[in-house]
Amino acid sequence: MRRLTLRQFRVFEAVARHLSFSRAAAELHLSQPAVSMQVRGIENILGLPLTEQLGKKIYLTEAGREVLHASRQITARLDDLQANLAQLRGMEGGRLNLAVTTTVSAVATDILARFRGQHPGVSIHLDVSNRESVLGQLAANRIDLAIMGQVPGGLDLEATRFMDNPLVVIAPPGHPLARRKKVSLRDLASEPFLVREAGSGTRGAMERFFADRGLELRTSMEMSSNEAIKQAVQAGLGLGILSLQTLELELALKRLAVLDVEGFPIMRHWYVVHRIDKRLSPAAQGFKEFVLGSAH
Ligand code: PGA
Repeated sequence: MRRLTLRQFRVFEAVARHLSFSRAAAELHLSQPAVSMQVRGIENILGLPLTEQLGKKIYLTEAGREVLHASRQITARLDDLQANLAQLRGMEGGRLNLAVTTTVSAVATDILARFRGQHPGVSIHLDVSNRESVLGQLAANRIDLAIMGQVPGGLDLEATRFMDNPLVVIAPPGHPLARRKKVSLRDLASEPFLVREAGSGTRGAMERFFADRGLELRTSMEMSSNEAIKQAVQAGLGLGILSLQTLELELALKRLAVLDVEGFPIMRHWYVVHRIDKRLSPAAQGFKEFVLGSAH
């Protein structure tokens, strides 16, 4: 079966607008026979005339009016599509799929807020979960970018460092070690610790730090959020090791104290990460540059 073509619709739309084959031909830079041929092409497929000539004037038939209506809808849809694609090529109107680890989420949302201020047209999808989950999303190509701690070697990831992330030991302000200067690691060995779940980067860094020194912490409870650990430490259930960046409020309100422990803080860093071969959209590329520009 022969099909109607976009070219036929475009030509007929001009004929219908001008109600003249010659003016349509002039507008389209075609010869008049070429215009008539396109219109006849539609008529042959539909088996109905689209125009009729009464005296010197051309009129649309009922079928002609139907075809005009359809061709206007089709050309409007195509114009929309072109405008949308133009937006995708630029940053505004683009979409950013981002995953960040729980520990960096406050820093990340602060950066996002500033980015949005400059690019209000970008729509943002943010997933907040632990390190293992964010690595899984990178592996599955579900996100454009991640913000997280150091990534393991051997994966096809490009990771660029942009900010420090010191981990500190926290206690309730009334804890005996809170008054001491130079607490030794041995002193910590007898304290119960509240730790993040397996899969957390904070937990991994803490375990490596102690294992490298031949020590093991006494873990009394495992919790899957930094907030829960802070509350449990305040409640006197044990000590915790968390990123200083998650403690601003509690330290300002003196609900928690940072202990002065030898070898601390454990200095970690934040990275912006994506798959090496990922073709970043303008929105993702723009955000990556924005994050690196906010480095300190
Ligand atoms: P997490 O984050 O402890 O919330 O997993 C730290 C990291 O990204 O390494």
